[in-house]
Amino acid sequence: MGYSVEGKIALITGAASGIGFEYAIALLRHGLKGVTIIDSDSKKGPEAAQSLNDRYGKKVAHFCRADVTKENELKSAFDTAFNVWKTLDIVINNAGVMKDGSWELQIAINCNAVVTGSLLALERMGKHRGGNGGIVVNIASILGLQELSGCPVYVGTKHFVLGMTRSFGQPYFYDKTGVKFLTMCPGVTDTPLITEASLFALTNYEGLGKLLAEQLASLPQQEPEYVAKGMYHLITHGENGSVWVCEGREPIYEVNIPDRLTLRKN
Ligand SMILES: NC(=O)c1ccc[n+]([C@@H]2O[C@H](COP(=O)([O-])OP(=O)(O)OC[C@H]3O[C@@H](n4cnc5c(N)ncnc54)[C@H](O)[C@@H]3O)[C@@H](O)[C@H]2O)c1
Repeated sequence: MGYSVEGKIALITGAASGIGFEYAIALLRHGLKGVTIIDSDSKKGPEAAQSLNDRYGKKVAHFCRADVTKENELKSAFDTAFNVWKTLDIVINNAGVMKDGSWELQIAINCNAVVTGSLLALERMGKHRGGNGGIVVNIASILGLQELSGCPVYVGTKHFVLGMTRSFGQPYFYDKTGVKFLTMCPGVTDTPLITEASLFALTNYEGLGKLLAEQLASLPQQEPEYVAKGMYHLITHGENGSVWVCEGREPIYEVNIPDRLTLRKN
């Protein structure tokens, strides 16, 4: 028997649109009790929450505006979410951008905010802080597992997410906190992040944006619903520290990363 999302409370960053919004739908469909959407988009955010409430019951979704790169805003969004639901079980650090042309901002969103979100999740859900334990899913990418010349800095940010999440997913943290850490690596998925990616490539490299668009188009494609379906499987069946790929409308699968280190596991 896997983990059940029934009656649980989730918090998802970047869920006003794109794949994050579909994660909320997939979990609510399986009996999630409530979700807090954290996003910087103050127009789409309330609309997303409203549409979830219309579809799945009056008070299942709650929007909290925050720029995830601002630690105080993210912390206060976690606090608000906790005050609304009085508990927290699942955190998905999903907000992300593919914008090598603004690489510092990209690192702040794709890396720094995932660190902050992971630490806040541990503080809120960790048994060492009086919590009940829980699940954190951090969103990497297939580009956390391979190189791509079209967006080298984005690729670096997703390798960061993968390495950090696997490390939080080691027994030292789980034994103390009861919080599982899982990594989701979506393949190319039809959202504005992909359709607009070529506009935001590194500047000063002629043709790089076009190359990026061609590279992304050459990879297997899918729609956000497929990743959301995979997310449900990952949350209900993923072992602590595991890494999963969801690509090309295929069922999600676990990746075995070769362990070449002789370091002790904990
Ligand atoms: N689309 C893909 O092909 C793909 C593939 C692999 C991984 N991913 C990852 O999946 C995640 C979601 O991507 P998506 O394709 O749904 O993107 P998207 O652009 O459709 O949605 C991203 C959401 O994040 C929000 N956001 C952006 N910056 C923010 C900030 N500073 N604070 C708060 N919210 C912010 C946006 O408002 C938006 O609602 C990202 O981490 C992305 O890197 C996407």
